[in-house]
Amino acid sequence: MKRLFLIAVPWFAFVFIFTGLALAEATFELPTGTMTLQAPEDAEHKATLSSVNFPHSLHFSYSCQECHHAWDGNAPIQGCGTSGCHENFWVPKPGQADESGNKVKSLVGAYHQACRDCHRKEADQQKAAGSKSIVTGPVACAGCHPDPHSEVVDSDEALSVPMGIVTIAPPEGVEATRGTVGFPHGLHFQFACKACHHDWDGESEVEACSSCHNETEPTGGRNIKSEDNVMYYLAAYHNVCVTCHRDMDKERRAAMAQGKTGADLPKAAPVNCSGCHSPS
Ligand code: HEC
Ligand code: HEC
Ligand code: HEC
Ligand code: HEC
Ligand code: HEC
Ligand code: HEC
Ligand code: HEC
Repeated sequence: MKRLFLIAVPWFAFVFIFTGLALAEATFELPTGTMTLQAPEDAEHKATLSSVNFPHSLHFSYSCQECHHAWDGNAPIQGCGTSGCHENFWVPKPGQADESGNKVKSLVGAYHQACRDCHRKEADQQKAAGSKSIVTGPVACAGCHPDPHSEVVDSDEALSVPMGIVTIAPPEGVEATRGTVGFPHGLHFQFACKACHHDWDGESEVEACSSCHNETEPTGGRNIKSEDNVMYYLAAYHNVCVTCHRDMDKERRAAMAQGKTGADLPKAAPVNCSGCHSPS
């Protein structure tokens, strides 16, 4: 059985969920399903085309920051048109002063650049890689702005996602030799959710790793890379956590060797046992 405890960030609500054990969670609500993007009511001009139905959860194979580029993985996510951001729906007409004094790209421009450029880039990359079926989103106007106009389908489905420190303990029945691991979930949202939750479809409840990787002893000898150990919980965690941290560490050292410093360096991620395991 999984056993995890979450330490709440104080300004977040406590939600208690029973999954065999009580969890205190600092969470945020992740909208899943499809949302409809449309011109704000007070936009300077009436919308000319159909609003855009955007399947949010079809995009979770990317890092959240691919689109929410100003998000730190911690504070609540702000809409793209928030004041100080892409708050002008349209670019000001030539000769017209930008009243907000905001030099940031217009919302229409930002959407077209982010959405269409990625769809185009994905298609180009997959073609170049010789793949037969191209999996991407629309590039043509009518793909996003269908004619006749599409229905507004803002789905209200959402998923509670823990943001603070998740304490990962070994499954029931394991005689632990190391302290538990305090895992800062939100610090990892710069990566795609599926980098870790590899079996997740972007919509359903997220299952703990150890609900599938539930073997408490290795069956394929001590080598965690052995195929026979795939369902051994320790192999699952170490193969994901430690492998990425080692890769980050290598990149960091390589960058240091090139004379990079400070913010130009990749982030430091612990590779030593005590960097993850609390003193037991
Ligand atoms: C392909 C682009 C894209 C990706 C990737 C993406 N989102 Fe979004 N997300 C959007 C857009 C567009 C909106 C609508 C924003 C708006 O209305 O201004 C949105 C809205 C949201 C909102 C609601 C914000 C509000 O205004 O209330 C949350 C929360 C959110 N996303 C979280 C996430 C998280 C967490 C991830 C990573 C799993 C993610 N998103 C990945 C594009 C994306
Ligand atoms: C970083 C790349 C990326 C960005 C940014 C992105 N998309 Fe996509 N989009 C994709 C890919 C890849 C798919 C295909 C996903 C699949 O089918 O599994 C897709 C699928 C779609 C589809 C579904 C098409 C279908 O067949 O159902 C729509 C609609 C869509 N995107 C709209 C948008 C809009 C609107 C935005 C901007 C708010 C956006 N996308 C931003 C990569 C991206
Ligand atoms: C990948 C999706 C996507 C594609 C492809 C796309 N747009 Fe958009 N477009 C958007 C989004 C998102 C918005 C902002 C939400 C809205 O206004 O519906 C938008 C807004 C607009 C607007 C302002 C709102 C309105 O209805 O008047 C115009 C005009 C527009 N697009 C024209 C075009 C034209 C012309 C093309 C083809 C050259 C095109 N778009 C292709 C996603 C797309
Ligand atoms: C670096 C790995 C990693 C990344 C990236 C990651 N998670 Fe997690 N997540 C975990 C681990 C580990 C747990 C703790 C439960 C466990 O041990 O399986 C967890 C727990 C969760 C839970 C609670 C599950 C439960 O048992 O109640 C949800 C929901 C969740 N993650 C959603 C997400 C979403 C959405 C994203 C993308 C924004 C994401 N995670 C990104 C590793 C990750
Ligand atoms: C729904 C069940 C399920 C969940 C939940 C799950 N896994 Fe897995 N995992 C599997 C299965 C089955 C395999 C072997 C087949 C495969 O590669 O998909 C696997 C394979 C792996 C592998 C080996 C991959 C490789 O390429 O050899 C690792 C590492 C792993 N999982 C880690 C994790 C971690 C970490 C989590 C939690 C963040 C997790 N898994 C959640 C079922 C699951
Ligand atoms: C895909 C790469 C990746 C994976 C997978 C990953 N991490 Fe990390 N981890 C990072 C990076 C990058 C940082 C540094 C983040 C930062 O400082 O913003 C980090 C930081 C940390 C930190 C230190 C936080 C601090 O306060 O300094 C801990 C602890 C940690 N990770 C634990 C884990 C655990 C446990 C797992 C597996 C469940 C895991 N990580 C999986 C990349 C990863
Ligand atoms: C990047 C984070 C990370 C690093 C670094 C790390 N571990 Fe782990 N380790 C985990 C996670 C997550 C688990 C699963 C939760 C648990 O069992 O405590 C785990 C589980 C274990 C377990 C099984 C549980 C137990 O207590 O017996 C052992 C043994 C272990 N690790 C040893 C080590 C040793 C030795 C090192 C240093 C060489 C190390 N770990 C480094 C994340 C890490």
